[in-house]
Amino acid sequence: MQVFIKKDYEEMSRKAAEIVAGEMRKKKDHFVLGLATGSTPLGLYKELIRMHRDEGLDFSKVTTFNLDEYCGLAPDHPQSYHYFMDENLFNHINIDKKNVHVPDGMAKDLEAHCQEYEKMIRDAGGIDLQVLGIGGDGHIAFNEPGSSLGSRTRVKTLTEETIEDNARFFKNIDEVPKYAITMGVGSVMEAKICLLLANGAKKAEVLAKAVEGPITAEITASMMQMHPRAIIVVDEEAGAKLKRKDYYRHVEKMVDLLKK
Ligand code: GLP
Repeated sequence: MQVFIKKDYEEMSRKAAEIVAGEMRKKKDHFVLGLATGSTPLGLYKELIRMHRDEGLDFSKVTTFNLDEYCGLAPDHPQSYHYFMDENLFNHINIDKKNVHVPDGMAKDLEAHCQEYEKMIRDAGGIDLQVLGIGGDGHIAFNEPGSSLGSRTRVKTLTEETIEDNARFFKNIDEVPKYAITMGVGSVMEAKICLLLANGAKKAEVLAKAVEGPITAEITASMMQMHPRAIIVVDEEAGAKLKRKDYYRHVEKMVDLLKK
């Protein structure tokens, strides 16, 4: 696991974009990018849009899979994750919308849709890089505490904490959906690279548990410790409670020196 602690949200986002763009450029023919919603990756998406505009970062051969979607919200619902992705990324880059995948929260047969989603990921050759945030209760995607660490794409009942956290995006808390389709922890773990971002003091405690605490289904993000290529990029506030802060900074310097 590599941990990068950056000065602030802007630097965190720039570092994350450098990593994503670097991997995309390495694998020009066909890149499969896993995406996340929430406020954390917004700066990353802005930077990718800037790189597309100013540096010609090409998304024409990129296929995307989003982690999750609320049940009961159509893609054009302003609070749906599909709408969020259109507004904050897809509408501003040269991606072919045929290559964009977000779970369908309106699917008639949700279980069959979840299986189909897994198949689409497999058929695309698997996810090359998966962007992740971390929920206040340590979840990745919508894998709430207690989720099986081997879980696959399925419908999850959201915890009260998650519903409260996400109420800020809705007019009132009663409008927040109670269920979501989410890729499972096991599905996320199959991505070749996992890139987990966190910012702000609110995430400090849970991030330290995920990165340095025991691996547990209580904090599904702790599975990053089992991933062969997990990259954690945080701002100073979110990294404040990491015990090995100095070591992570030392490693970053040493790796930079190696490149010179
Ligand atoms: C939701 C999403 C997660 C996201 C989390 C954190 O629960 N399903 O993918 O990581 O929110 O959101 P934020 O980045 O706004 O803190």
